[in-house]
Order: sequence, then C-alpha cells, then structure tokens
Amino acid sequence: MHRLVIVLLGSAALPDCSQAAGAPASRCAVRQVNAIARACGPLLRAEARRLSDGNTVRRDARVARVLSRLSHARDAPQAADMLFRLAGIAIGDATTRGLRALGEEAGLLIGTAVEPHDVASDPNYPPVLASDVASLTAENAMKWAPVHPDPGTYDFAAADAVVALAESGSHRLRGHTLVWGGAALPPYVEGAATGDELRSYLADHIATTMGRWAGRIAQWDVVNEPLSGILDPPTPDGLDDNVFRRLLGPGYVAEALELARAADPTAKLYVNENGIEVPGPRQDRFFALVQELLAAGAPLDGVGFQAHLGLIPIGQYPDAATIEASLRRFAELGLEVELTELDVTLLFRSGDLPSRLEFQGDYYRGVLEACTRVPACTGVTLWGLADRYTWVRRSFGFTDFPLPFDDDWRRKPAYFGMRAALAAAALRNA
Ligand code: XIL
Repeated sequence: MHRLVIVLLGSAALPDCSQAAGAPASRCAVRQVNAIARACGPLLRAEARRLSDGNTVRRDARVARVLSRLSHARDAPQAADMLFRLAGIAIGDATTRGLRALGEEAGLLIGTAVEPHDVASDPNYPPVLASDVASLTAENAMKWAPVHPDPGTYDFAAADAVVALAESGSHRLRGHTLVWGGAALPPYVEGAATGDELRSYLADHIATTMGRWAGRIAQWDVVNEPLSGILDPPTPDGLDDNVFRRLLGPGYVAEALELARAADPTAKLYVNENGIEVPGPRQDRFFALVQELLAAGAPLDGVGFQAHLGLIPIGQYPDAATIEASLRRFAELGLEVELTELDVTLLFRSGDLPSRLEFQGDYYRGVLEACTRVPACTGVTLWGLADRYTWVRRSFGFTDFPLPFDDDWRRKPAYFGMRAALAAAALRNA
C-alpha cells in the first residue's frame, strides 16, 4: 500500500510550493492537498473504512496540524508518510479496535508489565488486557529474589500466576529477568565468597527458572542492565560493578546466555538496558558489548530498549527519528529489537497538566511510529497500563502520569497517540 500511494502521489504532479510566499503559498498548499486527495483518496478511504470498523473518519485539530504540514512536503514519499500519519490519527479516532488487534496488523506486539495481584484485585484490569495487550511481562514476579530466595529453594507462585494469566488470554510472554546484578538479588548471591560458589548458583538458577516454563516463554531478558547505572559513579570500563562482574569477570554476560540457551533452546535471548535510546557514549558502550558478544559467538537474539523516557536520562525526550535510528543501529547487527519497559514521565517537564498530557500523546505516537518503521522491532511493552500502578509512584513516591490510561482507566491522549501510530502502520502494510 505504501508503495502504491507513493506511485500515485508521484504521478499526481504535486504543485511546487517551495518558492511561493504569503497568500499564494497557502493557495498552493490547498492545490497540493487536493491533488493528493484526487490521486490517493479512493484507495485510502477504502482501506480506512476497513480499519475503522466502518465508523466515520473524522477530522480534528490533530488532523488539521498534520494536514497543514502536508503542504510543505518536499516529495512524494514524504507526502505519503504524512498522509499515512493523517489517516492513522483519523482511523485511530474512528475505530473501536484496541491496540492488540491494530498492533498485530501493524506487525508488532503491544505488551505490558503486570503484577498478578493488581490484575486479580481490579475488575477494570482484565478487559483492557484482552483488548489492548498481546504480550505480558512479570513486573517483579520472575526476578531472582522472589523466585529463588535461598540456595536450592524456589517459590514460583507469583510467577506461575503471570504465566497462567498469559496462557488463558493467549498473550505472548517475555521473561524478566534472570541475571540482574543491580537489584532484586537475595543476600546469599550478593554475599557469595568465590566465583565457583556464584557460578553454581547461577547455573542452577537459570536451568531451574527457565526450565520450569521451557517452550512457553517466547523471550527472556537473560541479563538486565549490564552497564553501570546512569546515576552511579562511572566504572573504568562502563560495566556495572556488581557481584557477577566482580567474581566472574565481564564474561558473565556470555556465560549467562550460554546457560539460557541450554535451558530453553526455543526462547529468544535478550540483553536489556536503560538509557540506550539516545545516541552517545552510553549507547556506544552498549553497542560495543553487543558486538563483542556476537563476535564471541554468544547466543544473543535481541536487544531490549527499556525506554523509561523522560526519566532516564532525566528530562530527555529523544524524538521519533532518533529512536528509530537507535533501533536500526542494533537491528543492523542481525538482532531483534523491542521497547521493553516503555513509559513517558512528565515529572521533569514544565507546563500545565493538560498541555503535558497532549505532549505525551504526540510523543507516544512518535515512539510507536519509530518501532513500526523498523522491521526488526517486534514489540513494544509498556511498564504498566494505568497511572495508578506505575512504578514511578510506587518505587520513588513521585506524582507522575507516565502511562496510557489514567488512574480510573480512562484512555489518555497517550493511548490515542499509540493507536494512531498503529493504525497508520496497519494502513501502510495493507
Ligand atoms: C521495577 C519495578 O517496576 C518495581 O516495582 C520494583 O520495585 C523495582 O523494579 N528497570 C527494570 C525493571 O528492568 O525490572 C524495573 O522494575 C524498572 C527499571
């Protein structure tokens, strides 16, 4: 569809408005938009009707904003992209379909992290999982301390609840996480005396935890946050100074991947990191680590971009093109990429709340668009759905609104932004 629209636009002989100024420019823009509508209108309208459940596609201020930008399109591909964005906003507003179905048409899975007790205690939760979520991650239930609190002792109750929830709702599962040197470690691991002792815990932990659901968890974050924390003092080599690194050396990442491959050969194995959405020394350090792993033949299938945007790094909102380029950089190594913990913190942004929520809506749209443009980007997992459950409140006590549903499960501009991006991509793929 995308190509066909470009061809039609190319043959539509768009008037060149680049030299026009003032009133002639706006007249020229109107002629341009009309030419586009003549060339591609019927095709797009038919497809839009299909995607929007037959509801009328309506125009609003967001459509008008893109429409006015359309008149500055330089060439047919750029005009086509804007046209898809425009149609995505309109279809997104008109459709009754949720993010789950639209995501699948757009070629990616929309996911969320869950705490099983939140789902069980809130009747508003399950219907949203059914309509908007294709993939589940345990927010905490599969981490080392809860599942393996003492050597040889396992407690899978909460983790099993997440697996049961996913299987009963036909959701894909992401396992999170086997080896995280920075958090959720029980004292016996932190206090291991020798490399041999730690290595035996590690081998048992990976074999038992992954083995429990072998063949049922599609992806695992085998190693989480191997880089030194963004607020921690930097280490000479940029890697986190944790017990695995101290006792096993930096090779612990490759060792963990090998153990994971042996425990469940069907699972896609990921390394997951924060703050790598933005180009710079941190992303470069992570890229070098990934290159070293691949060069050494370590079984690595994917890279998880946590995407705690607006929070890590504080107050930064890398734009869609930047995120797309970052995803591509890793995809070009032959890896899958996913956004694994997406949320958009507003805490460090000025302005009144309504305008910050509008910003967040546009921003979520761009982030989702970035993933839809990279074929290797197979999923976007939110770190929670409704603001009342966000870790930013629970872990830090901040008043923040980083998720697509508000405290009472009303859909926010962020939700409609996500839906617009997915609808646009579904239309492009048709
Ligand atoms: C967070 C959880 O959301 C909190 O409930 C918990 O107290 C701490 O961990 N990066 C990760 C996630 O990889 O596991 C973290 O989850 C958020 C940051």
